Amino acid sequence: SEHGGARTGSVKKQVARLFEGSLKAAFPEESVEPLIAVCTARFGDYQCNNAMGIFSKIKERSTEYKNPNSVGQAIAKHLPPSDIVESTSVAGPGFVNIVLSSKWVAQNIHNMLLNGINAWAPILSVERAVVDFSSPNIAKEMHVGHLRSTIIGDTLSRMLEFSEVKVFRRNHVGDWGTQFGMLIEHLFDNFPNLDDVEEHAIGDLQVFYKASKRRFDDDPLFMERAQQAVVRLQGGDARYLSAWKKICELSRKEFDIVYQRLGVHLEEKGESFYNPYIPNVLEELTSKGLIEESEGARVIFIEGQTIPLIVVKRDGGYNYASTDLTAIWYRLNIEKAEWMIYVTDVGQSQHFGMVFSAARRAGWLPDAKSNLYPKANHVGFGLVLGSDGKRFRTRSSEVVRLVELLDEAKSRSKAELVRRLEDNGKLKEWTDKELEKTAEAVGYGAIKYADLKNNRLTNYTFSFDQMLNDKGNTAVYLLYAHARICSIIRKSGKDIEEIKKSGELVLCHADERVLGLHLIQFADIVEEACTNLLPNVLCEYLYNLSELFTRFYTSCQVVGSTEESSRLLLCEATAVVMRKCFHLLGITPVYKI
Ligand code: ARG
Repeated sequence: SEHGGARTGSVKKQVARLFEGSLKAAFPEESVEPLIAVCTARFGDYQCNNAMGIFSKIKERSTEYKNPNSVGQAIAKHLPPSDIVESTSVAGPGFVNIVLSSKWVAQNIHNMLLNGINAWAPILSVERAVVDFSSPNIAKEMHVGHLRSTIIGDTLSRMLEFSEVKVFRRNHVGDWGTQFGMLIEHLFDNFPNLDDVEEHAIGDLQVFYKASKRRFDDDPLFMERAQQAVVRLQGGDARYLSAWKKICELSRKEFDIVYQRLGVHLEEKGESFYNPYIPNVLEELTSKGLIEESEGARVIFIEGQTIPLIVVKRDGGYNYASTDLTAIWYRLNIEKAEWMIYVTDVGQSQHFGMVFSAARRAGWLPDAKSNLYPKANHVGFGLVLGSDGKRFRTRSSEVVRLVELLDEAKSRSKAELVRRLEDNGKLKEWTDKELEKTAEAVGYGAIKYADLKNNRLTNYTFSFDQMLNDKGNTAVYLLYAHARICSIIRKSGKDIEEIKKSGELVLCHADERVLGLHLIQFADIVEEACTNLLPNVLCEYLYNLSELFTRFYTSCQVVGSTEESSRLLLCEATAVVMRKCFHLLGITPVYKI
């Protein structure tokens, strides 16, 4: 809880609570929610923006208030006494600016150091969420779009988990559908005995997929067999089911290599999982009058859309939409999720828009504008581009093999690391294992950060040179900045645990205060990144944190100064928050550089 426990959460909310008190006291009849923002100008740290709204409501009947500024004055005057606020001022049309007490800021940071970073975990109004991400298709290529989904979905899951939300990390793999007909028949032709199907025997699943597709396109007899195979599979024929399972297993192994490299954890509930539930769900929708007949198919019409959502195809089969509607039903009723988050490229936004609308028509979800739970959001993202500005491809092949891409990031970062260590004569201080671990942390971290730092809706250009640059807004720069802070603390020779217990944190210098203020905004930033589903907000915070630290460290002597213990605490707090940012972004910190 907020009071008994260590979680202090959002500063903005603490400020809002203060203004809530003053608004109630000054304008008891109005019952308005406090509108609080971080100040952009230098008048203060936080700002209450209610005056203009209140004035426009009361100006007709009030003789006391002649303009918004006087309303602002009244709000300021009624602020309850608190150790949060240093001073207040009213600007222009009644903006009430407050300067936070430096002492309070310092105590807040010290409290976090003593109780751990969870003291700054956001407090959200949701308890259970499904994050549907990664979700590649069996036997097909796992492409850079799936990589983006994996990276973004993992970060969102981590931020929600940090906020103590129970997260279902769902891998909604495409493991069902007509493509399995041709795959199975092709498998039977090549491996009459299914036990012979081994990883090495089947070689490459994508090549296997292409070969079967070629036969499907070129050979009408094979096509017919494939179509019948689908019917058999869906009818539950044991031989077909076990062939299907084999193919899924092989694919899963491939996917797992990528997940392992990235350190991403997912729980698979693929499309096939929802099959048994589809008929009942469609029956419910039919009984609610949502499903209509259209050109031989069964469809749901959606307001504002010219094409309906097809839920049963003309041949009687189910499709992507029937599965997704059923998954919503399952997530709401069985998993009791309050928030469903779907991470795919923006190309699927129409699909999700229609599926969510259908769920709303069914009464499963409240009105989109209501902001009530349960909620469903599509987290769309843009394309990954190559240096030529076209869709990203590697030189070697048509497709980008994700494992190769990750390996290249690692080997490049290793080469760079070795070169640096050779230059400064430190290579011999490193074990092979340390080199490997650091190269992995930096290489994979670079890929993740390059993806996450942009607003997800924009396309971004994939460039190893850019993402592995040790200057600018990159993971490499940030990882090194963090390692340097750790080494400042280490080299001071002081016991930081001891200073935490007996030392005091004081923010004297202007650059210390700016850094301190940024630190305590951590909870608000994570909350904003979570609620708006925008990981780039956290990246921006992290990059600014590192810049503000540099500014502080440039103007304030740490080791050997009279303020040493206080400043070491500020270093430690910066390192702790940076590490938490890395953790939330799925990046592994390094300590040796
Ligand atoms: N398998 C799909 C694709 O590769 C993504 C699935 C996303 N999740 C969902 N519930 N539809 O495009």
